[in-house]
Amino acid sequence: MLTGRFEGKTVIVTGAASGIGLATTLRIAREGGRVIAVDLNEEGLAALKEEHANRDIVTVTADIGENEDVARVIEACNGQCDGLTNNAGIMDKFVPIGEVSDEMWEKVFHVNVLGTMKMTRAVIPLMLGAGHGSICNTASMGGIVGGAAGAAYPASKFAVVGITKNTSFMYAPNNIRVNAVAPGAVRTNIGGDFASHLALARVGPRMQVVVPPPAAPEEIAAAITFLLSDDSANVTGAVLPSDGGWSAA
Ligand SMILES: NC(=O)c1ccc[n+]([C@@H]2O[C@H](COP(=O)([O-])OP(=O)(O)OC[C@H]3O[C@@H](n4cnc5c(N)ncnc54)[C@H](O)[C@@H]3O)[C@@H](O)[C@H]2O)c1
Repeated sequence: MLTGRFEGKTVIVTGAASGIGLATTLRIAREGGRVIAVDLNEEGLAALKEEHANRDIVTVTADIGENEDVARVIEACNGQCDGLTNNAGIMDKFVPIGEVSDEMWEKVFHVNVLGTMKMTRAVIPLMLGAGHGSICNTASMGGIVGGAAGAAYPASKFAVVGITKNTSFMYAPNNIRVNAVAPGAVRTNIGGDFASHLALARVGPRMQVVVPPPAAPEEIAAAITFLLSDDSANVTGAVLPSDGGWSAA
């Protein structure tokens, strides 16, 4: 259902070229918002712009873990940022801590944690100036339980939950709300390949028993836009599972 909840609003979406970020971008744009669509994937952003030329979508090719790139994203906002969804993220090939490389650990933290911190830090002055703001972070079931990925991914997503809770607490008096969605399995391009025999033996069979069928990205976009919009005006610091019941099992 489309309600025009984002009329007159500017919302940054990271990871906008694919999966959940793409679905969220289109949902916000269809509901009247101006979207600053951010991704590393230049081709994907160009396709988004071309296929949806009638929508108010500004694309910015950027690495959210780099300060100069984040500054370009903020520049594209032209002084207005009512919402931010920190959604760009990568997986860890299910590698347990006994096998993880420094490179893998740093790569996952660069995007999932450093990127989330830098983007959030950058929008806070605009939101404080405006007297309002809403942030929705994409956490994961990997930010709720330990058996959904390798070591780096849940470490990063528990960090995302920590950033969500702390930022919501700190800025609640300033009318800035911060929530997270915790998706279960979703049909996107994130990739779920295993690079560890141990993980395949431990996580593989469990996944087949407890994980519901993957959701469509649009189902997660519905939860994200609820948390971003005034529909959730009294909600802050929440981590909302959208997982078909996985976390209830
Ligand atoms: N797909 C799932 O099953 C699932 C489950 C739980 C949580 N999530 C989370 O959902 C979020 C979105 O992932 P998705 O499943 O849509 O994956 P996806 O791979 O389809 O999309 C992620 C996008 O992020 C972009 N990206 C990666 N690194 C970036 C960077 N440094 N700067 C800017 N953009 C960058 C990629 O180019 C890609 O377009 C992630 O945070 C992921 O951890 C996904």
